[in-house]
Amino acid sequence: MDRRQQEQAIINVIRLLGTSLKNRRMYPPTHPLVRTPVEKCFSDIFLFFAQRQELALAISDGTLVFEGVPIFNLTSSLELFMERLAAIGIPAIVFEKGLAPGDIELFIRFLHETKEEGLSPSDIQKRIEDLGVAHIRVKPPEEDDYALAREIYHDAVNVVVSVLKEIRLGRIPSGSESVRVVNAISGMLNQNRDAILALTLIKNFDEYTYNHSVNVAVLSLAMADALSLSREEKSEVGVAGLLHDVGKTQLALDLIRKPDGLTPAEFEEIKKHPEEGFVILGKMSHIRPASAYMVREHHVRFDRKGYPDLGPDYAVQPKSQIISVADCYDALTTMRSYQNAKQPIEALEIMRKLTGKSLDPNILATLNNVMGSYPIGTMVRLDSMEVGIVIGVGLSGKGPIRIAILVDRQGNPLPRSEEVDLTDVDPRTGRPRWSILSTVNPLLYPDAPKGVFLPPPSS
Ligand SMILES: [Fe+2]
Ligand SMILES: [Fe+2]
Repeated sequence: MDRRQQEQAIINVIRLLGTSLKNRRMYPPTHPLVRTPVEKCFSDIFLFFAQRQELALAISDGTLVFEGVPIFNLTSSLELFMERLAAIGIPAIVFEKGLAPGDIELFIRFLHETKEEGLSPSDIQKRIEDLGVAHIRVKPPEEDDYALAREIYHDAVNVVVSVLKEIRLGRIPSGSESVRVVNAISGMLNQNRDAILALTLIKNFDEYTYNHSVNVAVLSLAMADALSLSREEKSEVGVAGLLHDVGKTQLALDLIRKPDGLTPAEFEEIKKHPEEGFVILGKMSHIRPASAYMVREHHVRFDRKGYPDLGPDYAVQPKSQIISVADCYDALTTMRSYQNAKQPIEALEIMRKLTGKSLDPNILATLNNVMGSYPIGTMVRLDSMEVGIVIGVGLSGKGPIRIAILVDRQGNPLPRSEEVDLTDVDPRTGRPRWSILSTVNPLLYPDAPKGVFLPPPSS
């Protein structure tokens, strides 16, 4: 099954569950109007077990999420059913291989009989097990958010590669794939923000344009989340982030990669890329005008002294500054041949000096909040004298800080990073096992971040 068929099957499953539940209010459990939807639902779920051990459907913000990607095209009656699940407090439905129609029937009975709302997942799990439900869990699998985030990130890079290639060939690509990966990134930010933010550490000079595009999308979406924008606005911002520099396809490659300062004439050329991007996005299907405008405006500074010059009466969208801030942060933290990459904290400090001039102070404050006091990607020395990189800061940068240790106390790089949590307490002393001594210049360990993304042992 491809993704579209999977989504269709999932929508069917939810629809059938909803129908059975609705009919259960009027008929006994043995009635065909209750039982037939259950049997059909079972055969749809069964299709998934050909390729996997379980089918996990998470519910986040009343939206169904399958493998980190929200499924949006649910009809209103399906959404009602989803709201019912969310009201009871069910964060996910996981169907495990071995499932029988009887399990689904009993699960429907639980949904029918339960009138309480806001139950805890473990309470719900216990109640359904007491009813005799086997092979259905209501907790999402905790494992490998990082693997999923990596998949989504690389998928997004591939989309950027193919979009840019199409444009260079003089064709106008469809925008549907861009929208799809932006929704996937958005879903991943909801599911495990740290996992996807950590990937913006990937700084690859050869592939700079592609990674930069995805990083700007991820950072913009994280800020859009923090600003509580609507789902549509988030999608518009994410797409603008992903495609903000597509106009550069119209420039000569050596100009984009030019390591040294640009001549005034060359700079005039570069200055055309936002308008070129605006025109390209305007021709792409599935792209909303708001995204195209953000692309046009991503170099119009906060004080309007940037480019293009759109005239004094032109109203710039405030959201364009989200893209500008993300763009600036990623550029500063990226190692390029003509610029030493800045530590995240240094980058934020440099950006603070630009507020009121090129950057909007409120949007920068949002980025600061998203990143916390030790932003993801910061290289630090611990009091154990080991060196590591911050890979997790929890929600709004205020959660427990997690560090991937890359260099041991003797200064030797570790073949594989080791993860530690700064809230871990040493039982002998009752005090935290590790604390941060200082930040470290990453140039001292140029290869270190790569270690973070090695696959786990034995896989
Ligand atoms: Fe740009
Ligand atoms: Fe850029």
